[in-house]
Amino acid sequence: MPTEASLREAVFKSVRDYCGAGGFDFSFNPDKPIVRLHEPTFAADEINAALECMLTTRVTMGAKVREFEKAFASHFGWRHGLMNNSGSSANLLAVAALANPACRDGFKPGDEIIVPALSWSTTVWPIIQCGLVPVIVDIDPATFNIDPNEIEKAIGPRTRGVMIVPVYGNPCAMDAIVDVCKRHNLELIEDCCEALGAYYDGKPVGKFGRVGTFSFYYSHHMTTLEGGICVTDDFDFSELMRILRAHGWVREVEDQQKWFDEHPEIDRRFLFVNVGYNLRPTELQGAMGLVQLPKLASYVERRRQNAAWFRRELAQYGDFFDFQEETPKGLHSWFGFPIRVKAAAPFKVVELTKSLNEANIETRPIIAGNIARQPALKMYDHRTVGDLKHSSAVMEGAFSFGNHQAVDAGARTYVAGQIRTFLRSRGLI
Ligand SMILES: Cc1ncc(COP(=O)(O)O)c(C=O)c1O
Repeated sequence: MPTEASLREAVFKSVRDYCGAGGFDFSFNPDKPIVRLHEPTFAADEINAALECMLTTRVTMGAKVREFEKAFASHFGWRHGLMNNSGSSANLLAVAALANPACRDGFKPGDEIIVPALSWSTTVWPIIQCGLVPVIVDIDPATFNIDPNEIEKAIGPRTRGVMIVPVYGNPCAMDAIVDVCKRHNLELIEDCCEALGAYYDGKPVGKFGRVGTFSFYYSHHMTTLEGGICVTDDFDFSELMRILRAHGWVREVEDQQKWFDEHPEIDRRFLFVNVGYNLRPTELQGAMGLVQLPKLASYVERRRQNAAWFRRELAQYGDFFDFQEETPKGLHSWFGFPIRVKAAAPFKVVELTKSLNEANIETRPIIAGNIARQPALKMYDHRTVGDLKHSSAVMEGAFSFGNHQAVDAGARTYVAGQIRTFLRSRGLI
């Protein structure tokens, strides 16, 4: 008579057989060349970890999520981690907690938060959704990251915070940013949703302000399919985020007794002490995260090696292109490989990307481009500082192709070769 455990093991074995001993094979095939923006980082181990949750029916946020939060936080040196169902949710939770009346020294409605123009939609939307006003500033054209001098210029009487984005995993100029935040008493929020595995001066990105966020979306450095996490060293702030993450409930907080003592008249299982959302991940996501985390460093290393190779290989075409400069003191985690076509180049970026796409090399714009130019923002109160020309130049003239754990020597050589083929077809080399 098979036991539950032996039946489960049979399921896991089938998954391992299906995926193959080394996981799915995404190595470059010259007979069918294709270089995608991303390939899954997960295989049998992650699928089985998720399946185990399904088979044991422990599927909603519980022990695995807690274990993952602890593992993630201690891996990078934070005291607290709060997993969410996406990086966007992590951003929403971080900003909502800072704007909550229960937050120590929190934001008030109408306060201004400075953000880089080159950012993602859900970097900026939570600011608006929480009744705050985004102030949009330009980037440093070399690093693609928020320019600390522009932060200084943008500060007004209502400015209370700065939300930064290490673009494509390139750490921001943290010495200057921390300095400006200290001098002007500004809260620092780090949206590191595309920067997992990046460090500045030996410290992980996300560790320079009260709260940092990361994404585990399918195409990111590691994945829980959808998913994200807020990290902080501030216990009270982590407790507030736990309340807001799930219905305003005290169910998830570490110090529940405090609330029970304050409200003995209410059923402690259904005690709501604040407003809240439902931004919870599933147990499957926590289980997958636990399997992915130990693999992260090797994935990031592959991205770094690829980026160094592309820099060397494409440097000879410096008349036509330039590249994102790694921030001094930074360790870049290369979410993709961005290329900016120089304004003086005798071709348009779309001509190049079309040619690459026809050769089965996927490309995309850099994040959401200059966010001030996206139609959504026009409906909401915001402020822009200067002409944001460097962010617009990236929006109009830059693109990226895949640089991930599955891009191997064959794929790299193919991409560089197709760029060469394009330049040759124009008589430029
Ligand atoms: C800078 C930045 N913030 C937030 C997000 C949102 O993350 P998610 O897709 O997990 O919601 C992304 C997504 O790529 C991002 O690049």
